[in-house]
Amino acid sequence: MDFQLTDKVAFISGGTHGIGRAIALSLAQEGCRVAVCSRTPERVAAMQEELKARDVDFLCLQADVTRQEDTARVMDAVIRRWGTVHILVNNVGGGGRWGQEVYEETEESVWMEVYEKNVLSAIRLTRMAIPFMRREKWGRVVTITSIYGRESGGRPWFCMAKSAQTSFMKAMAKSSSLAQDGITFNSVAPGAIMIAGTGWEKERKENASQTEDFIRRELPLGRFGTPEEVAAVVTFICSGAASLLNGASIPVDGGQSKSML
Ligand SMILES: NC(=O)c1ccc[n+]([C@@H]2O[C@H](COP(=O)([O-])OP(=O)(O)OC[C@H]3O[C@@H](n4cnc5c(N)ncnc54)[C@H](OP(=O)(O)O)[C@@H]3O)[C@@H](O)[C@H]2O)c1
Repeated sequence: MDFQLTDKVAFISGGTHGIGRAIALSLAQEGCRVAVCSRTPERVAAMQEELKARDVDFLCLQADVTRQEDTARVMDAVIRRWGTVHILVNNVGGGGRWGQEVYEETEESVWMEVYEKNVLSAIRLTRMAIPFMRREKWGRVVTITSIYGRESGGRPWFCMAKSAQTSFMKAMAKSSSLAQDGITFNSVAPGAIMIAGTGWEKERKENASQTEDFIRRELPLGRFGTPEEVAAVVTFICSGAASLLNGASIPVDGGQSKSML
């Protein structure tokens, strides 16, 4: 299948690690010019080396997308470099382990911070990207949500923020004006994905037998997912072949979730 991604300009927020990194590498492999950003200079530098070694046309920037001024600066850098943006992947998110197990012991600020990280960052980046996509008469916006953006589960502030992201993509997809300009909005909802140095790895080290129980009980494949398995689905959504896919929320979870929709 021809994915028609050669020379498309793709911006992946938080694309230096985990799922975002895998998406950036997959889109680069399909011929995209890729821009990524994240907060940690070491991660930005490591990704820069990785993309350089693959002979990709790229931009790696240090930025915190919860800060409006950083978001504007990175989008501006992408436009100055390539003059446009065709693909936006709103990957930055998280906060599933923030706060306390007990609802009333969790500060209100946690709700706000999780919402800002997942939802407001995606809203701002999407707003900035749309005028360029309209000019191109082609665009793909993909937001990385979670199975808990489609069904209840996890801590409430996380579930709420992820369902807000899902609803954001669905609401945008209903605009005839955007759809007829060739711009689609979809979300990809990962289940439990094992990423070195993040929550699940820590959990496995600290609570090995509980993690094994979780795998047996909740993961039909008997294993965690990989970032590359999520990236493969995102790459298809970004492709020219996915032109009729708009407003979808696609679980990529090996059968973990229970929702029928
Ligand atoms: N892993 C899972 O099991 C799982 C399951 C469901 C959904 N998800 C979702 O998938 C997405 C990616 O998660 P992941 O597990 O791949 O996370 P990860 O491995 O921790 O990577 C997160 C990436 O985002 C960057 N980042 C974090 N906060 C940022 C900010 N404020 N501004 C700019 N960059 C930022 C990080 O780099 P810096 O630290 O350098 O900023 C890193 O590059 C998230 O939306 C998450 O909610 C993950």
